[in-house]
Amino acid sequence: MPIVQRCTVVEMTPLNDSTWWMTLEVGKLVEEQGLRAGQFLHVACGEGNLLRRPISVAYALEDEPENTATLIFEVKGAGTRWLSRRRAGDVVDVLGPLGNGFAVEEGGRYLLVGGGIGVPPLLGYAEGFHKNTVAVLGFRSADRVILADRFRNCCKEIYLCTDDGSMGRHGFVDAQVRDILAKDKNFTAILACGPRPMLKSVAQAAAAYGVPCQVSMEERMACGVGACLGCAIQMADGTMKHVCKDGPVFDAGEVDWNV
Ligand SMILES: Cc1cc2nc3c(=O)[nH]c(=O)nc-3n(C[C@H](O)[C@H](O)[C@H](O)COP(=O)(O)OP(=O)(O)OC[C@H]3O[C@@H](n4cnc5c(N)ncnc54)[C@H](O)[C@@H]3O)c2cc1C
Ligand code: FES
Repeated sequence: MPIVQRCTVVEMTPLNDSTWWMTLEVGKLVEEQGLRAGQFLHVACGEGNLLRRPISVAYALEDEPENTATLIFEVKGAGTRWLSRRRAGDVVDVLGPLGNGFAVEEGGRYLLVGGGIGVPPLLGYAEGFHKNTVAVLGFRSADRVILADRFRNCCKEIYLCTDDGSMGRHGFVDAQVRDILAKDKNFTAILACGPRPMLKSVAQAAAAYGVPCQVSMEERMACGVGACLGCAIQMADGTMKHVCKDGPVFDAGEVDWNV
């Protein structure tokens, strides 16, 4: 059952000119509510912004003296701009835990695929699987690259791709994913987070090589708890599902990619 909690900011660090690392003391959200990476918090972003904004949990820790959760976000509009102006000691009001997160099993071997601000929700999974993961991370250009060193430290291999070729492989992540799967498709699953066109291409690659694939979908949200239909997406079987309540993570085969 999601709860509203007022959380003190304990760290606020810029990762580039528009992306922030924010760590919050979240108390019982971790201990009692089991908050974990890949779920999201619905964050109140100041008085002028009535609707909360969904931000994924990069990772959540049982830490002394308070449990913490790290959110990594990019400034897009008024809400995230307000959030980027918070500093250590400020208080932020969140609703959570929300959403399901990726389904993973102990000892599994995962291929993590992230695009842009879809990279942070995979960090907790990379760190939790102790050198047993391969990560493919895509960004628009070298100056947008974030978290590469953290992934490098905890993954078996990492591959960087940029749209303009200014760092790593020139092009989108799905070409790299196909090259990896052509040599080795012995993964428990692909876990992917990023823009919808990227998720669609990765889902197609996974299907072509017969590898299970979970995708974390992004939709604009209002209530965040399944009450307003604001975030409904079309599924392959003709039904609609709520990204906030049924997701944001879905089996790639469940999603209707043609709408
Ligand atoms: C489940 C979920 C998890 C998310 N996790 C993160 C995260 O970890 N880090 C992060 O930076 N962002 C994340 N987002 C996106 C984030 O919620 C939006 O960027 C934010 O709500 C924009 O609010 P704003 O007031 O700053 O901008 P607005 O003024 O509301 O919008 C500014 C621009 O952002 C676009 N936008 C708004 N909402 C979304 C959305 N949900 N998805 C894509 N584009 C949007 C708008 O179309 C517009 O172009 C997540 C979204 C969802 C649904
Ligand atoms: S945001 Fe209201 S139903 Fe998902």
